[in-house]
Amino acid sequence: MTNDWEEIYQRAKEKWEALEASPIHIRIGTPTCGRAAGALDTLKEFREKLEKEGIQGQITEVGCMGLCFAEPLVIISKPEIGLPPICYRNVTYQEVKRLVDGFILGDDPCLELALGTLDLTEDAAPYIPEMLRFEIEERLVLRNCGYIDPQDIDHYIARGGYLSLRKALGMSPEQIIDEVSKAGLRGRGGAGFPTGRKWDLCRSTKNEMKYIICNADEGDPGAFMDRVVLESDPHSMIEGMIIAAYAVGAYEGFIYTRMEYPLVLDRLEQALMQAREYGLLGEDIFGSGFSFDIETVAGAGAFVCGEETAMIASIEGRRGMPRPRPPYPAEYGLNGEPTVVDNVKTLALVARIMGTGAKGFRSIGTPSSPGTAVFALAGRIEQIGLVEVPMGTTLRQVIFDVGGGVPEGRELKAIQIGGPAGGCVGKEALDLPVDFDSFKAAGAIMGSGGMIVLDENNCMVETARFFLDFLAREECGKCIMGRLGIKQLSLILEEIVRGNGREEDLNLLEEISKDLAEGALCNLGRTAPNPILTTLRYFRDEYEAHIKEKRCPALVCKDLIAYYILPERCERGCEHCVLTCPTEAIVSDEKTRTKRIQQDKCVKCGTCLEICPPEYNAVIKVSPPDRIKELEAKIGG
Ligand SMILES: Cc1cc2nc3c(=O)[nH]c(=O)nc-3n(C[C@H](O)[C@H](O)[C@H](O)COP(=O)(O)O)c2cc1C
Ligand code: SF4
Ligand code: SF4
Ligand code: FES
Repeated sequence: MTNDWEEIYQRAKEKWEALEASPIHIRIGTPTCGRAAGALDTLKEFREKLEKEGIQGQITEVGCMGLCFAEPLVIISKPEIGLPPICYRNVTYQEVKRLVDGFILGDDPCLELALGTLDLTEDAAPYIPEMLRFEIEERLVLRNCGYIDPQDIDHYIARGGYLSLRKALGMSPEQIIDEVSKAGLRGRGGAGFPTGRKWDLCRSTKNEMKYIICNADEGDPGAFMDRVVLESDPHSMIEGMIIAAYAVGAYEGFIYTRMEYPLVLDRLEQALMQAREYGLLGEDIFGSGFSFDIETVAGAGAFVCGEETAMIASIEGRRGMPRPRPPYPAEYGLNGEPTVVDNVKTLALVARIMGTGAKGFRSIGTPSSPGTAVFALAGRIEQIGLVEVPMGTTLRQVIFDVGGGVPEGRELKAIQIGGPAGGCVGKEALDLPVDFDSFKAAGAIMGSGGMIVLDENNCMVETARFFLDFLAREECGKCIMGRLGIKQLSLILEEIVRGNGREEDLNLLEEISKDLAEGALCNLGRTAPNPILTTLRYFRDEYEAHIKEKRCPALVCKDLIAYYILPERCERGCEHCVLTCPTEAIVSDEKTRTKRIQQDKCVKCGTCLEICPPEYNAVIKVSPPDRIKELEAKIGG
């Protein structure tokens, strides 16, 4: 394999151009989200159908375009028909025949299955880049995601990949750090610490051996940004990591991810091997005299191992537990040597900064948070998926204009941001600009990019309980404040959702939170109170309803609700709920044949509410459960 860059670049470009010019080119997204939606069956079906019909078409497996709600996503290019590439949504294997017979063999572009086109056209489906979502989005990290084959380094190179590295290796390490500092890059792993300052500290620490670690642990429930980047465009992070290593003087690097991300591990191993083959990793990279290589490490999937000092312990083969900082890893890290730990997206942005220069990067975003923010939109939102927007975009734009808002006309209630120890802001915060400082002022944190939308059917006390329960299970037990404080908070919330809350509990929650924020050893413990403090700040009335009235306003907390059948709506001839109730709690009145729930037998599984036909809608939830007596008395009277 040649290491001559000009030759490599030329060959990659020709390969890409040939692919773009191919008479039939089908791109199929096969990242984890696509696979979960059946993309591998779609891929198999396309392969078999093309072979059966003797069609000379190219099929490329690509990563995630961010439009997870539309998976499996397929883009078909057939230039001869005079239409631009068309992006089809939810293409299960059953749809393949229609697309092959209609569009590939015939001239019908099957627009009823299309999401949009990739180039402007007058009469086809909507032009994707003109959709409001893409007008707001600015893709720096996700630039190639869903467009190139992550398993083929040539695709990355053909789209300008590794040119930033080439440029960087012609600069001095100090110049690179200066450029990253001037760009105002802040770490995308959570805290938003200035990357240039961290690198400078590591570079100026005198030591023979230094390391660089990419933090790809991503243990936040509901988050999938880093997984998508590594499954869809691994070289963007690898390129940034090599630049970072050169800047700080590291010769060895580690990418720490989790066993639960098998596709990430596969894609990374393949990408690293290809980079080595092209001389982009290993000895004397680009003939610069700089040598560097990277290993992957798969953790067992503990949330605390995302914390940098716990991660270092885990890589060293010890139990993943944090240690007090300072000294910071940049001075005393892996094996006691200076180590830079950076998030996947931070490193991917480094490659972009070296390409466009600090000024270009600063032209996007806000003065204190330049660049873009990547969010994984999840929960009660129409278009679940990944988005990348300039910092400073409002939450309202992200949720409504990009994410399509809350489904089924329901009302947005809160936005959970910043991971399990982030916080929930209410809808009054919708005009908050997305940036590190505005989020902090609102009592939440940016975190690594998880964003969960909650609607009127979510209970905020239960939401806080869920996250505290998660943190109590995931904290490592090393410091007493973390071990007992988080557990206590979790137990108090548990009692409140069970209807055993006491009025003094709210003060107690606040007091323990304050102590934990000051006294825990690591940021898991220090930030653990955030879900409580933010829900108390924005939704105190819900806590009070649970405690004082034993009522759950969102009708979620099992112990505070009861199911009831409205006799006037119950259809006499219908027996759906009676037949499906797992505890035989529903009885039919002999005369009227209306149904009644025997509360002592009901386990509140909700099946009757789900099964009752929408035209009758006879089953309701009430809170507090005592309301049943009132309702029954009314009928009796
Ligand atoms: C409990 C806990 C979990 C964390 N998990 C992650 C993670 O999954 N990914 C990440 O990049 N940073 C995570 N962090 C932050 C890291 O400790 C560290 O600050 C970050 O990797 C630095 O990279 P950056 O400067 O690029 O943001 C976590 C921190 C804590 C306290
Ligand atoms: S909630 Fe479940 S257990 Fe209770 S009556 Fe309905 S189906 Fe039966
Ligand atoms: S499913 Fe609804 S309409 Fe049918 S018997 Fe039960 S409550 Fe009545
Ligand atoms: S060590 Fe992290 S909370 Fe105690």
